[in-house]
Amino acid sequence: MIIRQTTELDLDAIRKVQESAFGQADEARLTLDLLADPSAAPQISLLAILQDKPQGHILFTRAGITEEEGIAASILAPLAIIPDAQGKGVGGELIRHGLRHLTDQNTDLVFVLGHPGYYTRFGFRPACEQGLKAPFPIPPEHADAWMVREMKDGILGSVRGSVTCADTLNKEEYWVE
Ligand SMILES: CC(C)(COP(=O)(O)OP(=O)(O)OC[C@H]1O[C@@H](n2cnc3c(N)ncnc32)[C@H](O)[C@@H]1OP(=O)(O)O)[C@@H](O)C(=O)NCCC(=O)NCCS
Repeated sequence: MIIRQTTELDLDAIRKVQESAFGQADEARLTLDLLADPSAAPQISLLAILQDKPQGHILFTRAGITEEEGIAASILAPLAIIPDAQGKGVGGELIRHGLRHLTDQNTDLVFVLGHPGYYTRFGFRPACEQGLKAPFPIPPEHADAWMVREMKDGILGSVRGSVTCADTLNKEEYWVE
């Protein structure tokens, strides 16, 4: 399997991977909108490919912390693996590759809204406990799904505030479920 950064020529493949993983078009539309959104830059968009067939896609987009202008942050969303390739480590490989790119970009913090049982194994932990609020209030029953990972020692605990995100993601509908 190879993992590589995407180009304009991959937009259709990305849409197909996202649609097949989620079984609906919403995440595919969000992904393509984020890729075209200047306020989401710098994006990290990676495709996992096996024998010329796309297996999964991951997207990271720019984020920030209110009142903490020196902090470089990113949001992981969406991550999608086609049904046939799920449970084979593709998602993990995409996350690890993405984290390496973020380290190269000197990123301080990475956020995700996702399954806590999955992302904790990659070093993510609940963000609210660290004083880092999501762009919109997360329902209490899903509080653990809003997670953060520090990319440099000592960042967590030293910064607090609300996370800002790309214009495309800055809609309540993406944060309430
Ligand atoms: C969730 C998803 C990204 C995981 O990617 P993957 O390549 O299938 O997962 P990996 O092979 O890297 O990891 C498999 C492990 O993750 C666990 N896992 C998978 N989905 C999980 C979930 N929803 N919650 C908790 N753990 C999960 C598996 O149980 C397995 O655990 P094990 O290693 O202890 O056996 C993928 O299944 C997917 O695209 N699902 C549909 C879309 C989706 O839900 N995207 C994520 C949005 S946050």
